[in-house]
Amino acid sequence: MLAKKNIAIIIMGVSGVGKTTIGKLLSQTTKIPFFDADDFHSANNIAKMKNGVALTDEDRHEWLLQLNLLLNNQLQTNSCILACSALKESYRNILSTNCKSNIKFVHLTGSYNKVLQQMNERKQHFLPTSLLQSQFETLEISYSSINISIEKKPDEIVAEIVNELFHQSEIGIIGLGVMGKNLCRNFVNHGFSLAMYNRHVPNEEENIAENFKKAFPELNTAQAFDDITLFVAALQKPRKIIIMVHAGKAIDDVLKQLLPYLSAGDVVIDGGNSYFLDTEKRQAVLSDKNVFFIGCGISGGEEGALNGPSLMPSGNSNAYSIVQPFLDAIAAKDIWQKPCCAYIGEHGSGHFIKMIHNGIEYVEMQLLAEVYQILLSQQYNPDKIAAILTSWKETSLNSYLLDITITILQEKENNDWLINKITDVAQSKGTGNWATIEITQQTIPATLIATALFARYISGYKSLRTTLHKTYNSTSKNNFSIDILQLQQAYELARIINHFQGFWLIEESFKKFGWQSNLSEIARIWTNGCIIRSALMQELVDVFTTSNNLLLSNYFIEKIKILKPSLTKTVSACIENNIPIACFSEAINFLNAITTSNLSANLLQAQRDYFGAHTFQRNDIDDETFFHHQWKKN
Ligand code: 6PG
Repeated sequence: MLAKKNIAIIIMGVSGVGKTTIGKLLSQTTKIPFFDADDFHSANNIAKMKNGVALTDEDRHEWLLQLNLLLNNQLQTNSCILACSALKESYRNILSTNCKSNIKFVHLTGSYNKVLQQMNERKQHFLPTSLLQSQFETLEISYSSINISIEKKPDEIVAEIVNELFHQSEIGIIGLGVMGKNLCRNFVNHGFSLAMYNRHVPNEEENIAENFKKAFPELNTAQAFDDITLFVAALQKPRKIIIMVHAGKAIDDVLKQLLPYLSAGDVVIDGGNSYFLDTEKRQAVLSDKNVFFIGCGISGGEEGALNGPSLMPSGNSNAYSIVQPFLDAIAAKDIWQKPCCAYIGEHGSGHFIKMIHNGIEYVEMQLLAEVYQILLSQQYNPDKIAAILTSWKETSLNSYLLDITITILQEKENNDWLINKITDVAQSKGTGNWATIEITQQTIPATLIATALFARYISGYKSLRTTLHKTYNSTSKNNFSIDILQLQQAYELARIINHFQGFWLIEESFKKFGWQSNLSEIARIWTNGCIIRSALMQELVDVFTTSNNLLLSNYFIEKIKILKPSLTKTVSACIENNIPIACFSEAINFLNAITTSNLSANLLQAQRDYFGAHTFQRNDIDDETFFHHQWKKN
């Protein structure tokens, strides 16, 4: 057996399909104990069925709860087999409660006539054939089950189950870069059976999967491939495949190779930082073949991939239900031990919010870089700056990014701080750029994301900056001093504005796309595993249960009023002293603008109307009418 965990095999299907026969035979073959769900029906239920009365959901509820208890108890020590009709998705959900990732449904399928014939051949059963039609009517499609036709002989059916469940892998990962490798280890560490594939490129990428398997003892039961056909053939059906290759063309190349070998009902997950509109195109292409495509934002870097990332999947909800147990199992857990993984919604919404996550991340990083720059201007060395930031950890400012910044600042090399030796040119891989394009496309003023992105772009002009520095002699004045508490408060408010803008952007975009948003749930899955996890994010989980607008939430109104003077003073002091603080300054400018009822945009409208007859609305006329004025008098 490839998996390292106990499993409960539920042989499901309508009455008369042969569940008990197959279950018992499977039990003999595998030596796994067998249970028949029929033995757990109450006397009332049995009497009802004998009288030809179909059971209601209510009749089945207690029975299903009892079966779930049985499965959970069995799974503590052993695998088990259960023959149970499990006709509806809601029944299967009850059966799987608290053991979702250990349950394997095997659906025995057959036509009404075939099943009727089998029932007529059967000697004793409490269910009269008259109820067969109602069984077929009740049966809801199971997307996650292994489906086997009863046209096959019992021995063949059992052989197929054994092969699928014990010799095939539950999940496959394509692309063994750092993230892919760590996800592989995360899956096997959670007891899943795994197939791993990395392409073969002569002299460049050879035996990657095999060598990776050899390097880590926990992968001894994983299957390693560099042939995509064999990789696909090694997976349990419906196949679940996670692609971990670079966003863009590489994904399309993999899909092109993969698609001919996939079957209807298989699920492909793209775990990269893909552009959400690309994800939607891919969903459309794959759905033509009835293959599901889930775009899944994954945050947490290498460490998250190994120990628990934050996961943001979207796409067809039935496809999500197939992969949910796998994703939930490997995800980070929040303070309530719930997985930091939630179904974000239809289409590319998962990759969309990962893009916004990264936008928020850019700003969080930039704000810390600005704090560092301000503190450097006070002649503090990196250790002293780290000490100041460490004192902030005790407050609501605590965050993963604060934490790593402290460690970075303390890192030394040959008696000097490593940070002093790193070139001040920041790069980016694209998500901040996409987020900025999206912000402008959608006309939502999430200005900090664009500002943080441009701060990186400005950093890229190193030689021009060096020349202009000499030309303009723009160093900060020596007697400039900044109050640390004031800086702390300024930083706190700038972060609040950043989170306001990020979640506002999500809320507004979701409305435009017609997606359902749940900001509290998004904040929750960002409380652990991801790069922007923080004490503030934890606070937002509650805040968003009462208001979707952070600036209007009672929790923040007073706080913002108190913090605002510190942000204003910090920004003006920095500007007077030639310290570039793009995000701090944009935060206060944005707050001033968004809290001003009368902006100067009336003049903009007048100018537009003057040179282009673009018209304007009047505030002394209470309707939507647009006017043009004859500005030129001759
Ligand atoms: C994460 C990160 C991750 C990656 C960024 C880096 O959530 O784990 O966001 O996805 O570190 O893509 O982005 P830049 O290279 O653009 O800074």
